[in-house]
Amino acid sequence: MTLTRRQFLIHAAAATTSFASLKAIAWGKAASEFGLKDQFKDDFYIGTALSGRKIREAEPRYMSRIGREFNALTMENSMKWEAVRPQEGVWRWENVDRFVALGEKLNAYRVGHVLVWHAQTPEWVFSKPNGDLRSRKDLAGLMEAHIQTYVDRYKGRIHAWDVVNEAIDGGKAWRKSHWYNILGEGYIDRAFNCAHDADPKAHLIYNDYNMDQPHKREQLLSYIRRAKKRGVPIHGVGLQSHVGLSFPNIDQFEQSIEAFAAEGMRIHITELDMDVLPVAWEHVGAEISTRFEYSKELNPYPNGLPMDVEQLMVERYVQFFKLFLKHRDKIDRVTFWGVGDGESWKNDFPVIGRTNYPLLFDRDYKKKKCYHAIAALGHTKPQ
Ligand code: XIL
Repeated sequence: MTLTRRQFLIHAAAATTSFASLKAIAWGKAASEFGLKDQFKDDFYIGTALSGRKIREAEPRYMSRIGREFNALTMENSMKWEAVRPQEGVWRWENVDRFVALGEKLNAYRVGHVLVWHAQTPEWVFSKPNGDLRSRKDLAGLMEAHIQTYVDRYKGRIHAWDVVNEAIDGGKAWRKSHWYNILGEGYIDRAFNCAHDADPKAHLIYNDYNMDQPHKREQLLSYIRRAKKRGVPIHGVGLQSHVGLSFPNIDQFEQSIEAFAAEGMRIHITELDMDVLPVAWEHVGAEISTRFEYSKELNPYPNGLPMDVEQLMVERYVQFFKLFLKHRDKIDRVTFWGVGDGESWKNDFPVIGRTNYPLLFDRDYKKKKCYHAIAALGHTKPQ
């Protein structure tokens, strides 16, 4: 049995103090101490992605924002294969240990990102020292040993894992990654089974971008239906939600929430941010190798976001949060992909060197208008 968000809250509360007295503490908080996590405490977790360097340096403004606003934590990069296992035989646990300890201190829901992905995975995983691709048997063994060692090490201390990330390509098909090319579709089953064996209580997630698109939705739904028949332990779908002012279509986004939930999946909004810069290309997802050339026209707000654009951003964030609240019975967590605009990956993706404004806090970690607009929608108010 995996822990749902509500079960986790109850367990966590019981571990420290009684649920009733914990609730009283949260309700009694002064307005100045009230964070998003408090406003939405009866709806879903509010999460963020952490920078390994920033939590190591423990910059006070950054740390106080995390503690006050968020009750779910993910590492932005430090738990990826290239960070944890840059070379064969080398495991680097330091950043992950620090993350888990911080999450425990804050009593936050802790997400492991990510076990199996085509990107940010070193070449040695797929190729032998002589450059030849690994055999099916070798790669399957490596993947299973990776998951087993990693999940087992943090058993009971990481609540949810992004087990497989971005396995679907732009069409209605599996991405032709080394994982797929060498192991076939079966690698997905294997990854989930192996994570479940290592920690039977962990909540296991399939995570991807552009999941509002009907062909990606259908591809995953069809897999989930088949996987469930085979007894594969898949519990949740992560909608990355790297959104913009004009994409995605919110009705299609809603249809995906409903369709995955109808298959018994819990919904996690895993990497929410909002690109407010011009989109001068046909279509872009979150495939991290995508690049477009820099031009001044593509970077129109280097010295601050004009008020009219900020207003559009506020309205758009409100639209998404209203949708999340409407489906609060299906959604476990809403995680933002970072804390302050200054460190967002969106300053360099898909064009390097722009000034973007995708998050709720500015470059000094001050609350932006979109923060206040979202907070106003929360059900729980400070006294
Ligand atoms: C991004 C990070 O934010 C960047 O710092 C890094 O350079 C590339 O990866 N989908 C995912 C995330 O699942 O791990 C990616 O994070 C963004 C797209």
